Parts: sequence; C-alpha cells; structure tokens
Amino acid sequence: MRHFIPLPGNEALAAELARLASASLGSLETRHFPDGESYIRLLDDVAGKDVDFVCTLARPDNQILRLIFAAETARELDAKSVRLIAPYLAYMRQDKRFQDGESISSTHFAKLLSRSFDSVITIDPHLHRIADLAEIFSIPARVEHAAPLLADWIKKNVKNALVIGPDSESEQWVKAVAQRAGAEQLVLTKKRLGDHDVEISIPDLSRFQRKIPVLVDDIISSGRTMIETAEALIAHGFPKPYILTVHALFSSATYWQLNQLATDIVSTDSVPHETSRIGIAELLL
Ligand code: R5P
Repeated sequence: MRHFIPLPGNEALAAELARLASASLGSLETRHFPDGESYIRLLDDVAGKDVDFVCTLARPDNQILRLIFAAETARELDAKSVRLIAPYLAYMRQDKRFQDGESISSTHFAKLLSRSFDSVITIDPHLHRIADLAEIFSIPARVEHAAPLLADWIKKNVKNALVIGPDSESEQWVKAVAQRAGAEQLVLTKKRLGDHDVEISIPDLSRFQRKIPVLVDDIISSGRTMIETAEALIAHGFPKPYILTVHALFSSATYWQLNQLATDIVSTDSVPHETSRIGIAELLL
C-alpha cells in the first residue's frame, strides 16, 4: 500500500499524488529545538507500507537532515519500502572538480540519499557530464521528463514559436520541446564567467525575424542566463520572449528583473513558485 508523506512545503504535491494514486496521505511533525537542531516525528503507522517521502530539493541544505531522519525513522518503524520523490534533485550541477580540492557534490549527495532510501524519482536532473543517474546512485533512480508538458504549453499558447536554448547543455530539452511543439529550434552559445556572470553569443538570426522567441532551460537560478539571452534577443529586434523553465529556483528580485524582459514566464510546479503553471504530478506516479 502506497503512503505519501510530504516534507514541509510539499503538501500540495503529496496530496495530489495520493489522490491520483488512490493512496493514503500521511504527515509528519517537524520543528527546530531551541539550539536549531531538527525534530522529526512520523504521525502515522508506516509499518508494512510503501512510503513515498515527497520533498523537492531546492535549497537542499535546509532540508536534507530532516529528510534523512524521516527516511531512517520509517525504516526503523518497518516501512516496506522508503522512496524519495524529489521533483527537483539538487547538487547535480556540481559534477566536476574544476579547481584542486573542490567537492564533486553531485556524487556525494547521491551517495547520501542512496544510503537512506530504497529508490528515488525525479524530473529532469541536470545531467551534463554524467550520462545516467545510475553512475552516481547505488539505488534505482527513475528520471521523468517535463519536455512534453512544456511543448504542449507552447503549442497551446504561442503561435509561430522559435524555441531557443541558451547553451549547448539545453540542446537536449530544446530539441524535444521544439519537435513536439512543431516549432523551429535554435541553440545559442554561453560562456559562464562566474555564478552571476554569463556571456551569450547570438548568431545571425535574420531567417527567424518573424518568429516569437520562447526561451527554454531546465533551471533558472541566478537568472543571468535568461536575462542576458532575453536582452540580446530584444537588442536584435525580437519581441520580448516567453521564458519557460522546469525548475524555478530564482528569487523574487530575479523574477522582477525577468518580468521586465519577458512576455510571460512559466515554470512547472517541481519547485512551487509564482510562475508555476504546469503541473508535474502525473509524471511522478
Ligand atoms: C546550466 O547550464 C543550466 O542549464 C542553466 O542554464 C543554469 O543553471 C541557469 O543558471 P542561472 O539562472 O544562474 O544563469
């Protein structure tokens, strides 16, 4: 019997999953002790149940300990299986030692989760130099893709779209989205100079002049990638682009800046955000 338990902030998604799966919805109590340490208590009997902890992992450092404590507690209390449903899987971008001594945190994070869960489900993890999550997880890790949902949104809402990816890493999403949306596609070149500093190169776009630009990327974090790309397109005579992303990690300040440059900004609800207009629950069943 499946039993969904949300970590704080994931209640809506867990309720939707329980509804769609005709499964039970549980809860846990969590708070901080006066010294800042985390308290966790499972409020339902999990013995014999297939427990799905629902916890998207944006801002993971605030969440990981209580998530691990919850999973270990469910195991101790005889859950039949303990799975993590993490629509956004953090730390996957740190997949290489660029400078001596740097932590390859994608590997360490995967090892940590692999110790406390039996399996994991996620959506569009940022796999760049890692081809498959199986390379870093020692438990089954299922990956689902939001590209069809983004494509269907574009098809319904934007006529004459040109689907644009800001960098070579986005090519995989751009191709899938453009093909399903029946739109043309273009992948730009990005040079990252720092956490908040990117350079976007724009090729000759004369053949696309009548198109409506739709920027697509897996993650918006600092927002610099989308801001630079939108500014460059506008400078080349295009209308303000639509901006679509799977994982909306960006702050309100970045949202305000992006809003000045975009016709519309839309994300999935993998990370609950003001822009979340595409539901991903069905992918996670
Ligand atoms: C990395 O290559 C990703 O696909 C995104 O382009 C990137 O994470 C966006 O980051 P930011 O919003 O900080 O520019």
